[in-house]
Formats: sequence, structure tokens, C-alpha cells
Amino acid sequence: MCGIIGITTGSGPEAGDQSVLDVLVEGLARLEYRGYDSAGLAMVGPLAADGMWRVRAANGTRSLDDLIKGTKDAPGHPSAGIGHTRWATHGRPNEGNAHPHADCTGNLALVHNGIIENHLELSDRLIDDGHHFESETDTEVLAHLVESHLAARPDDRLAGAVRLALGEVRGAFSIAVVHASDPDVIVAARRVSPLIMGVSDGAAFLASDIPAILGLTHDFFILDDDQVAELRPGSISVTTLDGDPVEPDPLHVEWDLDAARKDGFDDFMAKEMHEQPKAVADTLLDRLLPDGTLVLDEVHLTNEEFRSITKVFVVACGSSYHAGLMAKYAIEHWARLPVEIDIASEFRYRNPVVDGNTLVIGVSQSGETVDTSQAVREAKALGAKVLVISNVVDSSMARDADAVLYTRAGPEIGVAATKTHLAQIIALEILALYLAQVRETLSPAEARGLLDAMGALPDKVAEAMERGDAVHAVAERYRTSPSFLFLGRHVGYPVALEGALKLKEISYLRAEGFPAGELKHGPIALVEPGTVVVGVATRTPVWEKMIANIAEVKSRGASVVLVANDGDVETARHADDVLWVPATEHLFAPVIDVVPLQMFAHSMARLHGLDVDRPRNLAKTVTVE
Ligand code: M6R
Repeated sequence: MCGIIGITTGSGPEAGDQSVLDVLVEGLARLEYRGYDSAGLAMVGPLAADGMWRVRAANGTRSLDDLIKGTKDAPGHPSAGIGHTRWATHGRPNEGNAHPHADCTGNLALVHNGIIENHLELSDRLIDDGHHFESETDTEVLAHLVESHLAARPDDRLAGAVRLALGEVRGAFSIAVVHASDPDVIVAARRVSPLIMGVSDGAAFLASDIPAILGLTHDFFILDDDQVAELRPGSISVTTLDGDPVEPDPLHVEWDLDAARKDGFDDFMAKEMHEQPKAVADTLLDRLLPDGTLVLDEVHLTNEEFRSITKVFVVACGSSYHAGLMAKYAIEHWARLPVEIDIASEFRYRNPVVDGNTLVIGVSQSGETVDTSQAVREAKALGAKVLVISNVVDSSMARDADAVLYTRAGPEIGVAATKTHLAQIIALEILALYLAQVRETLSPAEARGLLDAMGALPDKVAEAMERGDAVHAVAERYRTSPSFLFLGRHVGYPVALEGALKLKEISYLRAEGFPAGELKHGPIALVEPGTVVVGVATRTPVWEKMIANIAEVKSRGASVVLVANDGDVETARHADDVLWVPATEHLFAPVIDVVPLQMFAHSMARLHGLDVDRPRNLAKTVTVE
């Protein structure tokens, strides 16, 4: 949610090789998935007019293009700059509310990701002191607050003023600030919202996440909560809010920039769906031994600790929540442990009953979703053991947890989660089987059979992916339908929820997912001739009941599209259209059954001429509550 970036190269004869403007613009393009309501940048240096040059644009998904047009008069050799791509929280998505925000003098510019909760109280005070505000945002208060501290204690310089300002602030932030009077310096800080930094070729830079600056280095530093960094050309120094020096944690990343390119696909979502078999295979790699056992060496919880668990909680949001729901069936069935699953934003505020024998699993692709990260922190504070499933190495959540199980899907740029969702289901199923292994709740023969089935999943996902044309043809038939009901039972239920979420988030069509058995308790009132019902009807122990529920909607005039196992003519008899998938052991079926529903949503969005990677009102990583 909002992306920030900054680079300082200095302007003297030793100035770094990087062009400040190029780095900002390229970085913003890679951060755009975090929000695209507006984009803006500010640069400082001897050649900038008055020492400061600022440009902003707000034109929805075209904001960055407009910003780039606006940079044609940019000064040639600025020494430092900061940039921002916005997902609007406080204030409309217009140019006036776009970042960077300036102070009253126009000498200071600031970008921010997060929410300043006490901004009204602070701005009232600053307005009384004579400050003039120009935007409707919560962020602008930071620019004026830093300005007031800098005016009161100029000897403390920009970093000192930022430290004092942040001491007064409640909420979440990652910020970057430049000042015309100190044009080689960027001051950055964070609390909750992510920020990484790097140094190379006489430059220093920062960003909300790794892909934005991956072209510049593979070695990063992670700024921790309530730390303030001063970036100068070729160096970074970090202190606490009290000014005590600290060493930031290093992070080495193996990915390369190719992972963040479209590789000939029309959009990232298509590319990332295509990568699903590999994401599944890589997430299984080295964890499944040929002798039929599972190893989770990287999960730093002992078998004794796993055995002491009496209850499991899964906390997550969106598609990660749906992956968690699928895990509930697997953990309860195989490891015989009770599992509660909670929407992360609800968990934190409802006084959950957890203790030292509770395992709380936080599931998050980004590892930065604030609802989930706060739920995980709450669980830890309550004494639970916390395990995080994250796709981003060393993400905030991974750092907070007692143990981490990484999905290995590679960077996901498209706003709609696809390959990471499949990898999450796999990681959770691995964990479920591991719990069963240490608790000895499955016989070796049963475990062996399941692990064999698991090993075959990458090929089956690849087979499901090959049916793209057939899925597209079905989407074409329902192109003008305004609303869709997605139904499933047992593990088909979370698949239905995920299918509905994919369709609504990228096609803007009304789509709701329900447990098929619940339909007759109310939702069936929505069914009328022409209603499209998409049912997950692959073979599970409740297949007959699912088919009976489908008959109920069909008899009321619904058009029925069913996800069915290859060759299952009996299921096909109940459908107007079939999305065929290979069969597997029923608790693994979600990994395969969700694939045609992702492709269906993708086709539908394309047929409606929509930008699947940048759906309206959304951002890839939600770092505000
Ligand atoms: O990074 P996370 O997995 O924590 O993100 C959670 C949700 O915001 C995310 O899954 C969202 O629902 C996706 N847009 C779904 O496609």
C-alpha cells in the first residue's frame, strides 16, 4: 500500500553512476502494484530550481505515465530524490493529495507509506503555530512537524528533526525526507510499514520493497521499527529514535530482475499463473525426502514443541485466508488437531483464547500485510508459538515469528494472488503432514501415499494450466452475465471463495462464494433463470451432496459451470459447461481446482478490457489497517 523510493548520488566530482531521475522512475514503475492513485517525486541539488524540484500526477492507472511526461523539464543533475506511488487512504486521489508533500518553506519534501493516526491533533497544533496545510492527507502533518523541529533546533539537522517529529507520532509509517539545504542527504524512518536500503557505486538508496531497487544491488539492509537512517552517497548510518547508533540487519537476495518482468506475457497475472507448476515444485523441493519423510529443518520449532501443541489458529487476509481455510481441513484430518481460522483484522481485537500450547500460523504472501502482522504480534504477546508462511524472505512478519516456512514462488507483481496462493496451500499441506508425522497420527503407509500424491502435483497443475483456451471459451459464453455464485463443499468451499474473489477483484463483477450446503438457508433466493452458478464438483467424499445442491440451483433456472475431474461424465451431465481438471487425492484438490477459476477470472477481465494487474481501488500489499 503506497510505495516509496529514494536515491542519493551526491553532486560533486565523485557523484555516483546512477541518474537520480532514472532510478526514481524505474523504481516507481516496479512499485506501482502497491498503489496507483497518484505518483510523484521530488529532487534536490544544486541544479534544481531553488534547490528543490517537485512534480506530481494523479490520473488513476495512468498516473505514472503522466508523471513521466511531467519530468521532461527536470533539472539535469540533482544529487538526491524521493518518489511515491499512492493508494489513497486520507484524502481523495487527486494531485493535491499526491506525495511528496512539502513544508511551508517548500525546502522540505516528504513521502510516506502508512497512516498517521494522531494527524488531526498534531495539525491543529501546527496550524495554531502558523503552519499552512495544502492537502487533505494525514501525511502532510509530518512535513510540517519536521519543519517545526528543524526550525527550533537547526543544529540537530534533518535527521534530528525527523527523530523528534516521529517521537510525537502514533500510527504506521515508512518515510523518506529530503531538504534543499542538505542536498546529498535523505533521511528515512519506519514503524510497521516496510523499508529496505542499499548502497552501491557511490550511491545509497531505499525503497518499500526489493524489486524496486533490485537492479542496483543484491545486498540490502532492513530498517527496523523506530529506527532512523541517514543516507549519504555511498553510506548509510542508522540510529534509534533516541539517536543511539545501531547496525541495520543485512539481507542478501538471489532473485534477479527477470523475475519482475513480464517475459512476453501480456500481463503479470498471466505470467505468474504460467509459473504455478514451478512455484509448487520449488515449495516442495528438499522438504519431501525419497524415503517418504518430510523435513522442515528451517522451521526452528523442535518436535517436542510441535508435540506440545493442542490447538492451531490460522490468521490471514484475502487469498491467504482462503489458503488457510484449506489447511484447516488438512490439519484436522491428518494431524487431528483442532484448527480455528480467523480473518486477521478480526483476530487482534477480539481477545482470542490462546496460550503457550497454541500454534498461531500467520499466512501472508508479502509478510507485510498490516492486519496479519499485527495479529501475529498479538498472538506472540499472548504467549502463543507463532509460525509464519511468507513468500518474501525476511519480511516483517518472518522476523517477528518464532518459525518461518517460506513459499518459493518468486516475486509476485500482479495484484491478484495466483502462484503464491498455490504455494501457500502447498506449504500449509506440508506443515499439516509434518504435524501428523511428529504426532504419529498417520500410518507410514498412509503418509507415503500422500507424499507420493503431493510429488505429482506440479505436473497436474501444469496439465490444468494447458486448458486455458477451453476456459476462455467458457468465459466468452458468460461475458455479459452480471453476477456469479460460486459454490463448493468441504475443500471445494475455500476454492469457491477464491474463485469468487478472483472474479470480483479483477473483473468488477458481482461474485459471491458460499458453502453449497448453506445455499438453502438464504442465498438460494438469489437464484433465478440466467443466474450463473460456478460449482467445484471434483470428487471428494461429499461429491453426491454437492451434485444434489447443484440440482437445486439448476431446477431454478441457473446456468451451471462445474469444475470436474477429467472424464467424469456423470458430473458433466449436471453442467451447462465444464472446466476440466486432473484428479488427485481430495485434500490436495484445491491446488488444482482453483486453477481454472483463476483463468476464468483472467479471461473475463480481459474480455471486459480491464487492466488485470492494476484493478481499481486495490493495491498488492495492504499496509494500513
Ligand atoms: O500479502 P498477503 O498475502 O498478506 O495479502 C493478503 C491479501 O491482501 C491478498 O491475498 C489479496 O486478497 C489479493 N489481492 C487476492 O488476490
